[in-house]
Amino acid sequence: MKIFIDSGNLRDIESLVPLGIIDGVTTNPSLLAKEKEDPKAIIKKICRLVQGPVSAEVVATDAPGMVSEGRELAKIDEHVVVKVPFTREGLKAIKTLSDEGIRVNVTLIFSAPQALFAAKVGAAYVSPFVGRLDDISSDGLTLVRQIVEIFDQFDFGTEVLAASMRGPLHILEAARMGAHVATCPPAVIEACLKHPLTDIGLKKFLEDWEKAQAAKV
Ligand code: E4P
Repeated sequence: MKIFIDSGNLRDIESLVPLGIIDGVTTNPSLLAKEKEDPKAIIKKICRLVQGPVSAEVVATDAPGMVSEGRELAKIDEHVVVKVPFTREGLKAIKTLSDEGIRVNVTLIFSAPQALFAAKVGAAYVSPFVGRLDDISSDGLTLVRQIVEIFDQFDFGTEVLAASMRGPLHILEAARMGAHVATCPPAVIEACLKHPLTDIGLKKFLEDWEKAQAAKV
């Protein structure tokens, strides 16, 4: 499963890319609004850093506006994937952009039929929002499972990108279900790097080693 960073923060991305586990990045208007720099400049820098798919979202809500914004975003860098929200207008824009060879990540997916329709119009990725469904006492991971099951029956070529990941268990379960990608906030990736038994075990190995060295002197 591919791991994307869900962030618009260059420092966070710079610190995680050298680990070698990062395949791409997703941003959204809320994430980019937190940063001071021009959003297009940030997207360009992220593309250079990651050298993999980087989702940049349109903010227009009508199909012609989404299409022209999407075309502009795609010109920023070859790695840009245009993020389009799942709406009636969004569907028309996804079809047009996909037909032009521009990769589209369909965002704000909250039901399996939405994912199916997005795949039918050529989406490269669909993004079910796991955490936001959990927030309203629904089961976000069940949605991921349903979409993976549907995509396994057909030959859409659309990848399931589990989004709105709130913790390591979301990543674990998305991987077990066969989601192609999980996009994770930096803090969630950091949480996966740590295990108290690893720390305790390493400390003991090093102490034993030091003791043995001292005894030999
Ligand atoms: C996906 O691409 C979105 O940017 C993201 O996962 C939203 O997650 P949130 O619910 O934590 O805002």
